[in-house]
Parts: sequence; C-alpha cells; structure tokens
Amino acid sequence: MAAAKIVLITGATAGIGRATALHLARLGHRVFATGRKIDALAELEKEAGDLSLESLSLDVTDAASIAAAVTEVHERTDGYGVDMLVNNAGFGYAAPMELISGEDLRGQFATNVFGLVEVTQAFLPQMRARGAGKVVNVSSIAGRIALPMQGIYCATKHAVEALTDALRVEVSSFGIHVSLVEPGPIRTNFESTVTSTVNKYQALDAAYAPSMAAYGEVAARSYKNAPGPACIAKTVARILRKRRPGARYVSPRMNILGIWIMGLLPTRLKDWVARKLLKLTPAHMLPSGK
Ligand SMILES: NC(=O)c1ccc[n+]([C@@H]2O[C@H](COP(=O)([O-])OP(=O)(O)OC[C@H]3O[C@@H](n4cnc5c(N)ncnc54)[C@H](OP(=O)(O)O)[C@@H]3O)[C@@H](O)[C@H]2O)c1
Repeated sequence: MAAAKIVLITGATAGIGRATALHLARLGHRVFATGRKIDALAELEKEAGDLSLESLSLDVTDAASIAAAVTEVHERTDGYGVDMLVNNAGFGYAAPMELISGEDLRGQFATNVFGLVEVTQAFLPQMRARGAGKVVNVSSIAGRIALPMQGIYCATKHAVEALTDALRVEVSSFGIHVSLVEPGPIRTNFESTVTSTVNKYQALDAAYAPSMAAYGEVAARSYKNAPGPACIAKTVARILRKRRPGARYVSPRMNILGIWIMGLLPTRLKDWVARKLLKLTPAHMLPSGK
C-alpha cells in the first residue's frame, strides 16, 4: 500500500460515510470519522477495533463544532491537519416546491451546501500551507439531473457541483485536488429520510397527493436493487490513491448511461415522461382539499 494518509469524513455515523471510514481504515489509513451522534461514533470505533479510526464530534451546520473539530485534528496530528477531507454529510427530502416548509428548505441547504462550504473553508488553510491535499464532495446524480418532487434536494446537489467545479480551479495551483463523487441510489438510511417526507407532504395537500404517492413508488423501485455503500467507499479510496484524481466519479459507473441519455433527450420529452411517471397530469391531480 502507498503511504498511509490522514482522512476526515463528515457524516460518518451511518451509510456512505460510515462504510467509507471503515474501508479506508482497513486499507491502513488514519481516519477521523465525524458526526453528530456520539453513541453511533462509539459503536463505529468499537467495530473498527485496532484500526486507525478515531471519532470526532462534528455537526457541519454548527460553526463552533467545526472550529472545535479543526482544533482537535490540529492537536491530534501535531499541526499537520488532513490529507483528504470527504464532505459526505447530507440528506434529501421529497416535497412539491409549493408546499415545502421553510425549515425543510433551509435545513437541506444548511447541511448539504453551507455546511460543506464551511467545513471546507476550515480545513483548506492547512492543505494550502503544505501545498498538498484532496477534497472530495459527495454530490449525487441529482446534481446532474433535476427530479420533480425532489427539486430542493436536487438544487442543493447542483449547488455542490457548481461550487466544486469553481473550487477545483481556485486551489489547483496550491497542489489541492478537488473531486466530486456522484452516487446513484445506494442502500443507506437516505431512503427512509426521503420516505418520511413523502408521507408528510402527501398528507398536507390532496392536490399533490397522487404525485407524492407515485414518487414514493418510483423511489422504492429504484432502491429495491440498489447496491450498498461499499461501492462509494471504493470510489473514495481510488481518489485517495490517485496522484491526479479526476473531477467527477459517477458511482456505480453504470449510472453514467442514464445521465448521458437524459442529456440527449429534448426537455419537452423529459418533462412529458416525468409528468406521466409522477402522475402530474390534470387527470390525476385532484383539486386542493387540505
Ligand atoms: N444513499 C443514496 O441513495 C445517495 C445517493 C446520492 C447521494 N447521496 C449522498 O450521500 C451522502 C451520504 O448519505 P447516505 O446515503 O450515507 O445517507 P445516511 O445513511 O442517511 O447518512 C447521512 C449521514 O449524514 C449525517 N448528517 C446529516 N446532517 C448532518 C450534520 N448537520 N452534521 C453532520 N452529519 C450530518 C448523518 O448523521 P445523523 O445520523 O446525525 O443524521 C449521517 O451520518 C449525502 O450527502 C447524500 O446526499 C446518497
């Protein structure tokens, strides 16, 4: 194995972040697995056993928590910092844009976008001082394609794509590599988080209820045969290994085909298919009956 690297992962209490933390630690790297749930972090450390995996409390929406994590990493690494930051913490809600609450709207941006930026800002100076480092931002195929009923989540991931593309160029001459990982459907807690809002917004307004129900069915189908988070963990390990990692990693790779086809189809046709699939047609939409 190449030299062991120091990696910090956000949102490592579950799903992709947890699997990536364990995978990188098993490969011999020193991993700071961070998250909000202390019990889940303790459980992760226990599972890691003798591996070089240390947990740290980090809520990406809390400036004080970010500052404390930076200080802690600084102390534990004798001022070195991290070789790679993996901005993974995130979640998605499903809701028609007309109905989504301010709290649900702002919550997704606070974690998926603003938190990601603020954590990155906190760890970049040490990388810049060393003239080396990697940042991996976990986006989604929802960062390339917009889905009705998940417009806000897609908007957060489109934002992640845009800011990552800009950052990659801004810091490249400092020796810092910035990459996007774009997962397709992956079996984690992500689906149940989405589903909880399907039920909530379906009950909120009868006009959108058939579409929300259809969205729930489409989501359930797409997760039925979805792979587990190991494939994303391997993609992140590949980025860590590469001297000059690429800008984008769609994972699993077969999802490239879907993105490519969607890019070729005329918007009018894509909209028609989405309306049919999600029952967003006059025949299905009921008059509002709150
Ligand atoms: N699974 C998929 O199908 C899929 C597809 C495309 C992209 N993604 C992206 O992959 C990333 C990981 O999602 P996942 O599938 O692993 O979902 P998950 O199993 O729900 O895990 C999400 C992780 O993010 C953490 N998190 C949420 N808010 C946080 C905050 N404010 N501060 C720190 N940690 C926070 C969660 O911690 P708590 O337990 O404390 O909430 C949890 O550890 C997300 O960015 C998601 O958008 C997932």
